[in-house]
Amino acid sequence: MKAFVLQKYGASISQVSMPEPVLGDHEVLVRMHAAGVNHGDERLRSGEFKQIFSFKLPMVVGSEFSGEVVAVGPQVSAFKPGTRVYAYPDQAHMGAFAEFIAIHQDFLAPIPESTDMVEAAALPVVALTAWQGLVEQGKLQAGQSVLIHGGSGGVGTVAIQLAKHLGATVATTVSSTHTEFVRELGADIVIDYRTEDFAEKLSNIDLVLDTQGGDTLKRSLGVVRPGGAVIGITGPPDPAFAAQAGVNPLVKLAIRGLSGATRRRARKLGVNYRFLFIRPNGEHLRKIAGLVDGGVIRPVVDRVLPFEETPQALKSLLADGVRGKILVSVDPSDVTADGNHDV
Ligand SMILES: NC(=O)c1ccc[n+]([C@@H]2O[C@H](COP(=O)([O-])OP(=O)(O)OC[C@H]3O[C@@H](n4cnc5c(N)ncnc54)[C@H](OP(=O)(O)O)[C@@H]3O)[C@@H](O)[C@H]2O)c1
Repeated sequence: MKAFVLQKYGASISQVSMPEPVLGDHEVLVRMHAAGVNHGDERLRSGEFKQIFSFKLPMVVGSEFSGEVVAVGPQVSAFKPGTRVYAYPDQAHMGAFAEFIAIHQDFLAPIPESTDMVEAAALPVVALTAWQGLVEQGKLQAGQSVLIHGGSGGVGTVAIQLAKHLGATVATTVSSTHTEFVRELGADIVIDYRTEDFAEKLSNIDLVLDTQGGDTLKRSLGVVRPGGAVIGITGPPDPAFAAQAGVNPLVKLAIRGLSGATRRRARKLGVNYRFLFIRPNGEHLRKIAGLVDGGVIRPVVDRVLPFEETPQALKSLLADGVRGKILVSVDPSDVTADGNHDV
């Protein structure tokens, strides 16, 4: 099969020909149709994750996909060949930038009935992040308020829609070109982070989903009510994450140090700070498919590139003005012009 492989941290990913994955007892073999590109893939490529996750190079990169089941292991009961599925795989089975991927059945779900394969591939990472951040960890309730940073991005577009569905008042930060777009998604309060200071405009917020880190995270702690929470997805990682990732004692100590100032500041303000790193979860993806089919969440696709242009797709993540997700597809008829903004 054709696959994009990382040979060395910092190098560009390159296309190779390699054997199809061998199927484990509980695994499902999927012929990939489309894959989303993520900042996480780029961070993995650059070597940013190498102290935390024990990836073995060379490895196939790519962390979300849609495709069709072609074979199942002997212990698989929930899927059969022909089913159209989508997923975010676990660390040991990364590799969505390939013609085939093997994945544990628990991490997989049928794609929403109302989407095509491209839209389905735009969902796993960002929708799992929104679900696990707002529902599982944030326990966002009707009547509460939430601030979602980067509302026009992959995570933000889904998080706004999910938070509205949960009955929250939604504030979001975007640049001015995206103001109307995020209002259409359901945002109640829209703040242009380039010209306005969200920390001056907001107070007493129940929950913040922080996609930016750094100074944005620091100032976010100050807009939350005592007892409220900030969930950071860009960092810094916290000791609970170190335990979840099972890192060695030295890295654990380093992670504790990285988030020390943030956690101390949060404690002083009576606010909870937690770092979220998504976990693969087929059950969550089934729930998300239900919300998509119920008209609650619509995937937002910025553009689709040919599978062969996966390295360029990764680079285009850093372009200005991206709205929603950038994907690659093996089907040439899926490919769009840059910045399609197809909602
Ligand atoms: N921990 C996890 O499990 C996890 C999971 C998914 C993603 N992430 C991380 O979360 C971050 C966001 O991911 P994504 O896929 O949503 O990225 P994305 O699609 O590139 O969106 C990022 C958005 O941030 C906005 N932005 C830039 N500077 C900003 C600022 N100072 N304040 C507020 N918004 C700003 C941009 O909006 P405008 O275009 O409107 O300027 C852009 O749309 C990435 O760092 C990613 O690695 C982590």
